[in-house]
Amino acid sequence: MGKIDGKTKVLGLLGNPVAHTLSPVIHNSLAKELDQNVVYLPFQVEEDGLEEAIRGAFQLGIEGLNVTVPYKTKVMKYLMGIDETAQKIGAVNTLVRKGKGYYGYNTDAMGLKRQLLSEGILCKDAQVIVLGAGGAAKAVLHLLVKEGARTIYLLNRSMHKAQEMAEGIDIVKPMLLEEYQYIPEGKYLAIQCTSVGLHPDVDQAVIEDDSFYQKIHTGVDLVYRPQYTKFMRLVEKNGGKAYNGLKMLLYQGVSAYELFRNITISEDVIGVARRNLESELEKNE
Ligand code: ATR
Repeated sequence: MGKIDGKTKVLGLLGNPVAHTLSPVIHNSLAKELDQNVVYLPFQVEEDGLEEAIRGAFQLGIEGLNVTVPYKTKVMKYLMGIDETAQKIGAVNTLVRKGKGYYGYNTDAMGLKRQLLSEGILCKDAQVIVLGAGGAAKAVLHLLVKEGARTIYLLNRSMHKAQEMAEGIDIVKPMLLEEYQYIPEGKYLAIQCTSVGLHPDVDQAVIEDDSFYQKIHTGVDLVYRPQYTKFMRLVEKNGGKAYNGLKMLLYQGVSAYELFRNITISEDVIGVARRNLESELEKNE
């Protein structure tokens, strides 16, 4: 963050809680590297004040907002328009000021797309296992279908959520987590979208059986606290490549900043934000 003066533009994050968010690190690093007169702040908002918060933000001239748990869907009715991808995912994480209100986008799927691209992981024709059927899994599934995955086994603790998400998409096979042994032999890309393994339960993985991990050539855990999760350890132990979700977080932020400011950000600048993000996480580990 540079000097704050009368021309400083304000961006921010709406959510509850917001105390542990890393979004200010991403956005303020980008603003500094790009030498833009912008500041990004966290705003903790109560649910009954959400509509007023958005109207107030607009009147205060706030240029853009990210939205996090628990408001990604609830916020949609207060917007002047919603992008097609966000509409399909059913959740919005980025509000861009346009005309008389905010327009909603979802950069989570884009964040994962950019992460996979940067690691050289291909979705086209891929055989994929998605673990979890919550909000994050929804964005992941949308991307995988759009990018042309061949088959997606969608495993969840509760069957109804997996079935609901798979409805009408014939390449998506909903299953219970404990049915993993019925996934056909082969090598899969696996994306871990549950909250299992998240700090402080660092010694847990959603499936712990080595025979499951032997089917995985690449595992991406959306968890990044801790940076090296039990899921990642199990993937590597069984010969696969493993990644955490830090780059997805980074790139969803980068994509949001690009929408807020209507710019394209270079990989050099993104690299600085990434290093700041990693050192912030290391401080808390
Ligand atoms: P997010 O926005 O991070 O996706 P969410 O929508 O609450 O959060 O989804 C959390 C996911 O983690 C869900 O798939 C949830 O399973 P259910 O749909 O059955 O609730 C999964 N999850 C959370 N705790 C779990 C646990 N202990 N074992 C297995 N799955 C779990």
